[in-house]
Formats: sequence, C-alpha cells, structure tokens
Amino acid sequence: MDANNDQKTVLSVGMMCLDIVTVCRSYPEEDTDQRVLDYYWQRGGNASTTSTVLAMLGERSEFVGAMATDIESNFLRDNLKSYGVKCDNAMVCESDIKTPVSMVIINQSNGSRTILHCAKNLPEVSFSHFQTLDLSQYKWIHIEARPAPDSYSQIMRSIVEHNETVSEKITISLELEKPRRPELDTLMQYADVVFISKEKADDERLFSKEDVVRTYIKKCKAGAVVICAWGDQGAAALSSKDGVLCTSPVFPPETLVDTLGAGDTFNAATVFGLCQGQSLQGAITLGCKVAGAKCGMKGNNGLKDMKWD
Ligand code: FRU
Repeated sequence: MDANNDQKTVLSVGMMCLDIVTVCRSYPEEDTDQRVLDYYWQRGGNASTTSTVLAMLGERSEFVGAMATDIESNFLRDNLKSYGVKCDNAMVCESDIKTPVSMVIINQSNGSRTILHCAKNLPEVSFSHFQTLDLSQYKWIHIEARPAPDSYSQIMRSIVEHNETVSEKITISLELEKPRRPELDTLMQYADVVFISKEKADDERLFSKEDVVRTYIKKCKAGAVVICAWGDQGAAALSSKDGVLCTSPVFPPETLVDTLGAGDTFNAATVFGLCQGQSLQGAITLGCKVAGAKCGMKGNNGLKDMKWD
C-alpha cells in the first residue's frame, strides 16, 4: 500500500562506519607521544550521518547500506536506532566481513578533523539488495555516491523508472564528495538535486562555490539543482529551472569545536528544507545554519534540542 506523502520516509543510501575519535589539544607532530583530551566511538559515514540529522530535524528517516555483524556493527546498529533511524532494510553481510573504521583526530584548538579511514572488505550495497525495497514508502532518496558506479547507476535508474509509473514522485539527491572519482559523475544524469563537495571541486580546479554550481549544472538533467557548500564561505545553489544563483553565508558558532560530519549535516538540513517545501535559498540557508551549529558542538546529538527559524 502506498503511504501518504507526509508519512513517507527519506531514505539515505551509502556508507556507515565507526569513527574512533581522538580529541587533541593541538594537532600531533609525527613520532611524538602526547596525552589526548578524550577519545570515544561515534557512528560515522556520510549517508549514516545524513540520515541521523534528518531524523533529528523531524523527518521519518531510514538508512540503507552494507553492514557487518561484528562488535562494531552492533554499536552502530544500536546507535542508529537510538536516533529513530530505521535500518531494518540494510544489507547485512555475515561471516568475516569487517565494519569500516575511521580514526579521526579532532584538533580542539580549531575544530579541524583529520580522517584516517580503513575499509577492509565490506561490500557496497548491491542493486539486487536495493530491489528488495518497497519504493512506495519513500518520498526522497538521498544517495552518497560510492565507488561502485555500476550498482549505483542501476539503483538510481530503477528509481527513475519507478517515478515514471507513479504520480507521487521520489525526489533523488546525489552527493558527489570524493575527489578523483570521475566515473561517478555519470550518476548525475539521474538526480534532481546534486551536492558537490569543495574537496572534489578543489581537485577539479574550480575555485569558488559559484564556479562549481555554474559548471556542474551543465552536466545535470534539465530541471536539476546543484548545491555546493564551501567551508567558511557558505554555500551556493543553482537551479536549471530558473537559472537563479542563490548563496548563503556561514553561521559560525562562537567556538569551533568539531567539524566532523559538517558536510553531511549541511546536506541533511538542505534536503530537510526542500522536503518541507522551502525555496532553494531557504533550504541552503537552513543547511548552513544547522551545519554551523553542529561545528560548535561535540558530535551532533545537541541538534535535536535546537529550533530553526
Ligand atoms: C564524515 C565522514 C566520517 C567518516 C568519513 C568517511 O563526513 O562520514 O564520519 O569517517 O567521512 O569518509
């Protein structure tokens, strides 16, 4: 049965990993020994974090990605559930599959995060797994482009095909974050909303958020929107429907505490704004506000108590 649109879920597809976060007073020098201020386990991965922030902002939220069955994955599963994010449809991989782990150094003096990621053998979510989902439950599917272009293009094409048969369309957003992965750019043809990261833009010698959206809109389908967040320069967005370029400044916290997952938070809050029917300008401004607030706190749990006007 089709769910009523208000009852429908925003699905985030991509990676979930364990972040082992170490908080240092200052960034360590190589081959030295220093006491750190704190360390803790935290759930990470772009799509997983995006799904959490969507849930905290008030959307029905679900995560689909590959999951192992090791100790780390138990922590991740429980943590995801504690935020009210559904994960029953995740692709569970048994036997010797290991949860990917990031060692993250947070420099308390400026909030920077340095990520050392270790992915062993967790596969990417497959198209055959994705086909087991009931797409009528979703109003929006956000996809973190992963290095599996074949299965991701099958997944995205199947959503487009689903949309051709129904009146309540699923909006498709795509995050292209990783540099040096030009093969993932072909996924843009299926997306209604495309997020391009500064990291990817830097690698392609695009030097401003405005340049990025103007360049990438030409690669997207007609009617699509391109959005680019650019660290302390805020964000830009361009819709090919009206050709109007919108920008938002950053809303920095008083003290930069922890920037880990700020981009995933921006994406979530922008998707949330668009789901709520806000203008593109309104949605990226909300994205910058929520991401800014996140940078002023440890983790992102504090976002759930905040109000956004
Ligand atoms: C932040 C993040 C971390 C994770 C890393 C993976 O955007 O999702 O949580 O460790 O990126 O690249």
